Amino acid sequence: MKAFEFYNPTQLIFGKGQLEALKREVPKYGKRVLLVYGGGSIKRSGLYDNVISLLGEIGAEVTELAGVEPNPRLSTVHKGVELCKTHQIDLVLAVGGGSVLDCSKAIAVGAKYDGDMWDFAERKAAAKAALPLGTVLTMAATGSEMNAGSVITNEKTQEKLGWGSVYAFPAFSILDPVNTYSLPRDQTVYGIVDMMSHTLEHYFHLESNTPVQLGWCETLLRTVIDAAPGLVDNLENYELRETIMYCGTMALNGFLNMGLTGDWATHNIEHAVSAVYDIPHGGGLAILFPNWMKHNLHVKPERFKQLAVNVFHVNPEGKSDEEVALEGIQALRDFWNSIGAPSRLADYDIDASKIDVMADKAVKFGAFGGFNKLNREDVVAIYNASL
Ligand code: NZQ
Ligand code: ZN
Repeated sequence: MKAFEFYNPTQLIFGKGQLEALKREVPKYGKRVLLVYGGGSIKRSGLYDNVISLLGEIGAEVTELAGVEPNPRLSTVHKGVELCKTHQIDLVLAVGGGSVLDCSKAIAVGAKYDGDMWDFAERKAAAKAALPLGTVLTMAATGSEMNAGSVITNEKTQEKLGWGSVYAFPAFSILDPVNTYSLPRDQTVYGIVDMMSHTLEHYFHLESNTPVQLGWCETLLRTVIDAAPGLVDNLENYELRETIMYCGTMALNGFLNMGLTGDWATHNIEHAVSAVYDIPHGGGLAILFPNWMKHNLHVKPERFKQLAVNVFHVNPEGKSDEEVALEGIQALRDFWNSIGAPSRLADYDIDASKIDVMADKAVKFGAFGGFNKLNREDVVAIYNASL
């Protein structure tokens, strides 16, 4: 393992009925709340009414920012920052999926910064303060509810960039699996692909002596693979929603990351696709990850073999490491196909015409990838394999 420090200050409030905790948590930060949400799912599910009613009980003064887009936009962040400054907001409360949470993180740091928070995404400055942030999660996918990361799209420059700061950790996050019942099948699948991809990004690392971390990754993957088929056919099954929601958080809250550096190249390559074509992040990952795996198999075939055997139960007898590894990659592709994830860029009507544009975006900060450094040529090869 490499030397590490672990820090995660988010108070995780998990389980049925936990929304009530809002009454206990919100007053710790003040009265003036900016309530941030997306395109209306929380109104249709009734969650909005429940949140407003609980905030009413504690006498909170609520200002609203509605309409956060999937792949949240910088212009929406700016609106939120403006509202925070005008209404002297004490707490940003995000109610929604990863996009609403990420947008709220950007608003929380933007409200305490004189310049444009895009500077943080551009690595031109680092956040030094933020408004406190609370979240009520409605979609299991990103792990944003318990991490310090956020991904924002600058629609003017067509760039989608991740940024992070210790100031972006939510102070508290409320996760009631019931609030994910209304998530449609396709979005449920995207979330499942995303959390599996986060686990795989950690799994592919070069650090030695990480048996616990590898084992955690394998357990998470096997658990999601067991739960997912039942869930996509029964979207209101409490136990399956609970399992998937817990896995989503654990896949990207820093636990898997102790003592190692994950790869994260596939995420970078996907962000360039959704920057240009505005496709769902999980859909893009399902297309790209198996192709990243084939492209990088040579780096450490035994790690791919371990995945194939321990997660996908491939029988290694009489086969080379590479053959076992390739069977594992195919099993991953088959599993994602079986729950309805896309497998080719063509599934989103994406052809080769903008591969150069996307590749330029992917290498904006130079070669990347903790398991294997990829340059522009590698990225182009992975896009071409994904058409
Ligand atoms: O906008 P509303 O109406 O709420 O609808 C959303 C949206 O259309 C809907 N939805 C969410 N919860 C629902 C629901 N519909 C019905 N019932 C519910 N309970 O689902 C759609 C997608 O929501 P979104 O928040 O965009 O999905 P997700 O959670 O997958 O977030 C994706 C964003 O997070 C970024 C992605 O790049 C993308 O921009 N990521 C953030 C990360 C992080 N902060 O750590 C890491 C990830 O790797 C990822 O890159
Ligand atoms: Zn992701």
